[in-house]
Amino acid sequence: MTEAELSRQRDVEQPAPTPEQLEFERLIETDSRVEPTDWMPEAYRKTLIRQISQHAHSEIIGMQPEGNWITRAPSLKRKAILMAKVQDEAGHGLYLYSAAQTLGISRDAMYDQLLSGTAKYSSIFNYTTPTWADMGSIGWLVDGAAICNQVPLCRCSYGPYGRAMVRICKEESFHQRQGFEILLTLMRGTPEQQRMAQESVNRWYAPALMMFGPPDGESPNSQRSMAWKIKRFSNDELRQRFVDMLVPQAEVLGVTLPDPDIRWNEERGHYDFGVLDWDEFYEVLAGRGQANTVRLANRRAAHDDGAWVREAARAYAAREDADRSTLLERIA
Ligand SMILES: [Fe+2]
Ligand SMILES: [Fe+2]
Repeated sequence: MTEAELSRQRDVEQPAPTPEQLEFERLIETDSRVEPTDWMPEAYRKTLIRQISQHAHSEIIGMQPEGNWITRAPSLKRKAILMAKVQDEAGHGLYLYSAAQTLGISRDAMYDQLLSGTAKYSSIFNYTTPTWADMGSIGWLVDGAAICNQVPLCRCSYGPYGRAMVRICKEESFHQRQGFEILLTLMRGTPEQQRMAQESVNRWYAPALMMFGPPDGESPNSQRSMAWKIKRFSNDELRQRFVDMLVPQAEVLGVTLPDPDIRWNEERGHYDFGVLDWDEFYEVLAGRGQANTVRLANRRAAHDDGAWVREAARAYAAREDADRSTLLERIA
């Protein structure tokens, strides 16, 4: 049977789409937003819950590698900037948990998935930050890759996610600039500071490129996410865009990107770059990175330490509710 015949047979066997399904398809086709009250296919809902909650977990776990340097920042100004940046990441996590909740999952359920180790978060945050220059590299490379990934998400078909991304991207671009400025200051400093900056860029460059996920051929869910307009560009397209952005910025900084295969390709109009070590990516993903265990242990301890805050907030909310009902009774 040919592909056309198979597809015709499928058409015959499939029941006619319901008005809700047609409305969902229309929203996607016309680049409109799907809102929490709209009907959506279960697989679309599940994909979004997974993606948005993983994104939220990444923001929250991502506070740790930089939080590590707040007490040791080299000046009061650097400390204030770093604290603001880490607080921004907490805020990103909170917007994103709220966006995921509109899809019908509770925040407690998402926390459970993170704390029990069943949920994933971006592997980049399992790398350690042994030097101050790492604050520069994280801002320049990690937040830089996050921006490339997230700017197209502002047009995501799911309304609450797209709108959260607009604000997040504005803050990410500040993060990238502050990282770039840390590296620029070091590169204009002593030979020792220059070596520190270069050594840090050497460690973060490849893991940052891997943040876009596996090559397109090994990323089975990507096609469907693109058809639903959750994702707008493939992993490899975004990675290329990132490298094209980094090369001229590295020249301004005076750092060398640790890939001898980077060169301008006139024909493609893009920079060529070398093959990445995907074995390392899958090792970190499997929990065997530098700091996977520490990151989760810290997160669990922070959650336990915060139990009294959650209890107090619940008690306060219950009292407010009780006061409101008493007041309403009196008015009535
Ligand atoms: Fe963020
Ligand atoms: Fe950031």
